[in-house]
Amino acid sequence: MLIGVTREPAGETRVAATPATVRQLTALGYTVVVESGAGELSAFTDAGYTGAGAATGTADDAWGADIVLRVDAPAPRDIDRLKDGALLVSTLAPALNPGLVDALAERDITVLAMDAVPRISRAQSLDVLSSMANIAGYRAVIEAAHAFGRFFTGQVTAAGKVPPAKVLVAGAGVAGLAAIGAASSLGAVVRATDPRPEVADQVKSLGGEYLPVVVDEEAQQSGDGYARATSDLYDAAARELYSAQAADVDIIITTALIPGRPAPRLITEADVATMRAGSVIVDMAVAQGGNVAGSVEGRKVVTDNGVTILGYSDLAGRLPTQASQLYGTNLVNLLKLLTPGKDGEAVLDLDDPVQRGITVVRATGDGRGEMLWPPPPVQVSAAPATAPVAAVAARPRHKPLAGPAKLALVLTGIALLWLVIAFAPAPIPQNFTVLTLAVVIGYYVIGKVHHALHTPLMSVTNAISGVIVVGALVQVGLGGHTIQALAGLATLLASVNIVGGFAVTRRMLAMFSKGN
Ligand code: NAI
Repeated sequence: MLIGVTREPAGETRVAATPATVRQLTALGYTVVVESGAGELSAFTDAGYTGAGAATGTADDAWGADIVLRVDAPAPRDIDRLKDGALLVSTLAPALNPGLVDALAERDITVLAMDAVPRISRAQSLDVLSSMANIAGYRAVIEAAHAFGRFFTGQVTAAGKVPPAKVLVAGAGVAGLAAIGAASSLGAVVRATDPRPEVADQVKSLGGEYLPVVVDEEAQQSGDGYARATSDLYDAAARELYSAQAADVDIIITTALIPGRPAPRLITEADVATMRAGSVIVDMAVAQGGNVAGSVEGRKVVTDNGVTILGYSDLAGRLPTQASQLYGTNLVNLLKLLTPGKDGEAVLDLDDPVQRGITVVRATGDGRGEMLWPPPPVQVSAAPATAPVAAVAARPRHKPLAGPAKLALVLTGIALLWLVIAFAPAPIPQNFTVLTLAVVIGYYVIGKVHHALHTPLMSVTNAISGVIVVGALVQVGLGGHTIQALAGLATLLASVNIVGGFAVTRRMLAMFSKGN
């Protein structure tokens, strides 16, 4: 089949394929035609595409292909350019654009909406909303840093001490977490809040401090990875938190969103009025109505008290090369799913909830498409379902020992130790004492090490097997063949343990390396 990659409308900087993704598409058996100049704004030249194995052609060549890949939804006249039976893959916001969906269903084509991918683990590699939100969160920090008149990081210089900037991120979803990571890596003091308490660990792991909104009610969790609408009680408590934070921080980045609803208003005019001159707010949810009073889509607004409010809704497109690469990879992952035979023939399987979830229209061969929007709900499992509080209380994971039981255990241990020391022949008492002390010390030392560090800790402590190697080497020269064989085996196994431990540590450390 032929895949066409078209130029995008004015204002869109991204493109649906890059030379790297063209190579992946041809490896799946497809031939690719790219409209001349399609990658201009994202720094991909026609020569780059042809070098990767694509042909370049006219708009009609690209729109007339069997499969058309797009970033933005097609205009009405572009829908007419598609050939019967074609497959169109694009972002469409189908829930918000019923007119567009109807117009697409007028044609005998199949249409897949990349922005309707269910948020389930299996579909993560196709999830363009997440890949774009990740870029947008990063870019929001860069835009804020650009508009902010000071460093993000604190410094002590000969010319004076510079305090670090304080950043508040509201909403710790995909975009929020990317913003937290970017701001803390620039050296700012980062705080973040979100109604889902389970994100606290993720916030911390990215260098931020999680600010909980403390309310006397059940946590605002959901079984599908998205937040539920917050209650009045929560909103009232959150208002206090935002008022206190607005007066303290330099930068606010808001990303709060509840799918299918207008963005919740978090920062009021009164909050903005308490911020210091020079402070910056980035309202990422501006396209959904905005989290911040006074933000305007696509504009930079400076308030009377000198606060800059950025309402850019094209943040991902402001990193067009990166955004095109990730978007193109999401499309390649979709085509891998549609091309199980790697034979350049796309097959849609509507029994697969991921493929069904993104199918808006299906070609019928009767001159009109079959409308398949909205899809049936997908049972997703992005977040663990919350167990009822009573059930949790009835089955604690680690029930601590009661005081008398603990005392009895300690006394039994001491009695056993005394028996061994008093009656066992030398050198068993000395060795046993050393073993007991090692167990006690090891228990307390390892118990204090954070879980995330257990693997590197264990791999390094494997080096203790060095003692076995020394012992075995001493034995090799002392005994007969059996002892020599056993000592050789001990040396081999202990060496595997040591080398394996360091190999695991090395692999783990490589995950954190920036790969330069
Ligand atoms: P997400 O669904 O992953 O995260 C939204 C977060 O907001 C969730 O963690 C949710 O718990 C939280 N939230 C909900 N109600 C809240 C409240 N009252 N207070 C605080 N937090 C609350 O969404 P994602 O993908 O991170 O996108 C975030 C926003 O950024 C969306 O509005 C999205 O449209 C927007 N966006 C904007 C772009 C731009 O160029 N401006 C580009 C990409 C995304």
